[in-house]
Amino acid sequence: MKHPYQDIPATLARALQAARRVVVFTGAGVSAESGIATFRDALTGLWSRFDAQALATPEAFRSHPDIVWGWYEWRRAQVLRAQPNAAHRAIARLARHVPELAVVTQNVDDLHERAGSVGVAHLHGSLHAPRCSACDAPHAFADGTPREPEEGRRIDPPACMRCGAPVRPGVVWFGESLPADAWEAAIRAAEQCDLLLSIGTSARVYPAAELPQRALAAGATVAQINPAATPLDARAHHNLRGAAAEIMPRLLASAGFEPPENP
Ligand code: OAD
Repeated sequence: MKHPYQDIPATLARALQAARRVVVFTGAGVSAESGIATFRDALTGLWSRFDAQALATPEAFRSHPDIVWGWYEWRRAQVLRAQPNAAHRAIARLARHVPELAVVTQNVDDLHERAGSVGVAHLHGSLHAPRCSACDAPHAFADGTPREPEEGRRIDPPACMRCGAPVRPGVVWFGESLPADAWEAAIRAAEQCDLLLSIGTSARVYPAAELPQRALAAGATVAQINPAATPLDARAHHNLRGAAAEIMPRLLASAGFEPPENP
């Protein structure tokens, strides 16, 4: 019988047991098994099917606000219908077992929070927190469940209640800075942690991709969970090949934090 965590290196299990400060750094792959598309996977990735310059830049929003708003509403509707998966749940449970856990995500969904994680740093903003494109006032959606817009449908953005300018998605676009608070907290956590888990990210988009490197430079153990190779493979101490929803529960079990699933 296959041992449920035989593929977790004992040195990693011990590092997790001993760690005082852990950073979980996630990307689109952690939500893949919830049915949310990644960006760079061939064929299924959003940037294989859509032009990032035409949808994820301030210039695109200025030229065609209805195309951009419609695209983000389509994505928000998908997220609202999705459920957190076993990886999100394992990450939330990890907080009970390590003295300090920082969850830092590049994802604009809310699946970490819905799985029970608190204080998540969203480096690339959130689909659920739009704001005015002129005065930055936050905008509340009328209700949390938009009609499922079809792919490619144009939708005019709402007008800001304060100044009347178009409301924009609360995400970070290409060419924009990361939210300073989230970024500073993430850098601090990466530089002070004993262990950083880089889960479901292609580790190509900077500055976010600096985080594992900062952790390595500060002497932390870095482990990656991803079915594919990334530029971080050469430097990470552990590269666990596979789906986050399968590996994360086994990683917790290997550290003795929880009984293994399906023993
Ligand atoms: P990518 O699409 O670049 O990478 C997703 C990674 O997840 C890939 O390396 C996949 O191999 C891996 N993956 C796929 N399925 C997985 C699974 N079940 N379990 C674990 N890993 C899996 O997404 P990100 O790295 O998040 O930015 O991309 C970073 C940023 O680029 C995004 O936040 C977004 C995008 O442009 C903005 O929108 C600002």
